[in-house]
Amino acid sequence: MCGIVGYIGTKKASPILINGLLRLEYRGYDSAGIATIEKSGISIMKDKGRVKNLYNLDGIDNLEGTIGIAHTRWATHGKPSKENSHPHSDNSKTFSVVHNGIIENYNELRKFLTDNGYTFYSQTDTEVIPNLIHYYYNKDSKNDDLKLLRAIKSACMDLKGSFAIEVLCKDFPDNMIVVRKDSPLVIGKGENENYISSDIPAILSFTRDFYLLNDYEFVVLSRNKAEFYDKDLKPINKDVKNIEWDASSAEKDGFDDYMLKEIYEQPNAIRETIGAKLNENSKCEFEELDFTKEYLLSLNKIYIVACGTAMHAGLSTRNTIEKLCKIPTEVDIASEFRYRDPLVNEKTLCIFISQSGETADTIAALKLCKEKGAKTLTITNVIGSSITREADYSIYTHAGPEIAVASTKAYTSQVVLLNILAIYFAETMGMTNPCIKDLKEEILNLPKKVEECLKISEKVKDFSKKVYNEKDIFFLGRGVDEVVAREGSLKLKEISYIHSESYAAGELKHGPIALIEKDITVIGIMTDPNLVEKTVSNLQEVITRGAKTMVISNQKIDDTMFEFVINIPNTHPFISPIISIIPLQLFSYYIAKEKGLDVDKPRNLAKSVTVE
Ligand code: G6P
Repeated sequence: MCGIVGYIGTKKASPILINGLLRLEYRGYDSAGIATIEKSGISIMKDKGRVKNLYNLDGIDNLEGTIGIAHTRWATHGKPSKENSHPHSDNSKTFSVVHNGIIENYNELRKFLTDNGYTFYSQTDTEVIPNLIHYYYNKDSKNDDLKLLRAIKSACMDLKGSFAIEVLCKDFPDNMIVVRKDSPLVIGKGENENYISSDIPAILSFTRDFYLLNDYEFVVLSRNKAEFYDKDLKPINKDVKNIEWDASSAEKDGFDDYMLKEIYEQPNAIRETIGAKLNENSKCEFEELDFTKEYLLSLNKIYIVACGTAMHAGLSTRNTIEKLCKIPTEVDIASEFRYRDPLVNEKTLCIFISQSGETADTIAALKLCKEKGAKTLTITNVIGSSITREADYSIYTHAGPEIAVASTKAYTSQVVLLNILAIYFAETMGMTNPCIKDLKEEILNLPKKVEECLKISEKVKDFSKKVYNEKDIFFLGRGVDEVVAREGSLKLKEISYIHSESYAAGELKHGPIALIEKDITVIGIMTDPNLVEKTVSNLQEVITRGAKTMVISNQKIDDTMFEFVINIPNTHPFISPIISIIPLQLFSYYIAKEKGLDVDKPRNLAKSVTVE
């Protein structure tokens, strides 16, 4: 959701900026633009539409500047248009700014600036920023090296909401200033050059050394250095963090789309996530955690809070935690949880799951739980992401960069990690449950079983070809299979734009069955041996009403009842969602491909939702 790139060095900036924007495309956007400092002053090139359109803009090839900022915009205030695209300038064209996030008090600031003689040319909230900087810059009578920094700091202190911004000023042609609050921004350190980006993969091919910024840390960048200042403009020291991901893992590696590549990366992602945490014959280990038996036994509740697919990972694991640890566990959507005054106190452990570690609602929910005295633990895929800087404890899925908007390998890695976490809790609490041994063994077998499951790809493709023109598709399941039904339905909506619903199979009779008519497609997931018969009966009810059915199961079922049966490897019921989701990921992928859609960048969606 909006992407920022910046470059300051000795090379021509514009190709680096456009290349960086292309790598951020997956975040979701509707317009793009760049600004560079040229001999003649600041030059801005922008338009609505795809990043590659920038190559066609008049004069783009003539840009020589070695300092520049760039942006992909995902419209919030004002429709996608050239005027609303970033970079934005102040009225005097002294400053050029790109911004991620939302300025909540922009109306108030706009009125203040209008009263002070400023004019606005876009409908964006962002346009107040360069003008506010100009306002403070003009008021400052001192003409020293810190004048620009002071003006930016004063402007930022007036902003309410979230922002990651890059600022160019024509009076300081050898500098760029960046700052963030509740919106992602990282700095990549090179030799006599610095790169700026909303996320690490976009600039991984240039450097693996990064500075990670906290809220209200101001950075004055020049070609050979990055100087950091706190809120009071006191200089601070920052360490460089070396990132292990390599650039090739963020490329497509011969696959048509990132999503397909990421689906196929799951065996390895799971292997990496298990790492050294789980060993069949010894206790689970999390060196990042120091929970004592007393603390875990004192808990009255565990909350798992997240958005989208990450929330489904929480739902998939609630049962494991409750069964193994006997601690009541609730799973909630971050955007709901944060506004419902949840019953959280020091006896509650709050777990936040976020692939990106940047989801605004999840981070806000975490801050709320901290205020209420709870311990907070985050599960994320991105080292150094914003959420890790807020949480008391951070543990990582090691799924590698996930680029496709629709989450696949991050989800399965989250479910793996949550199951291992549940075992760790149970073992620390001294709980004895005979199933732990079996569960551990099955988790260790997962990479192989997922590999085996991926072999059903062609069969799923065949079924997808039959149903890709459908208007509605229903997903049914019970227990953990109901969660898989939800996640399968979400995947399908996200990338194929087919209307789909998921239901607990037992709820069918209480309403949804009214929607079942001849030839409607219904997908049933059946992995829980205790519930399989019941779901079969529900599917029988839809078949009677003329539905076409596809069934995903690792149980013995009567194949002849259903149009299509996908047999998947059997495993422990707690972790079956990791295997049963694979055919549904492939199903949504092949349907979207059949429809000729952009699988990796579905319309209206963003990979990283950094605003509420
Ligand atoms: C967006 C993405 C989803 C993702 C959700 C939560 O909606 O499109 O794929 O599940 O955000 O993201 P997070 O990074 O917090 O896991």
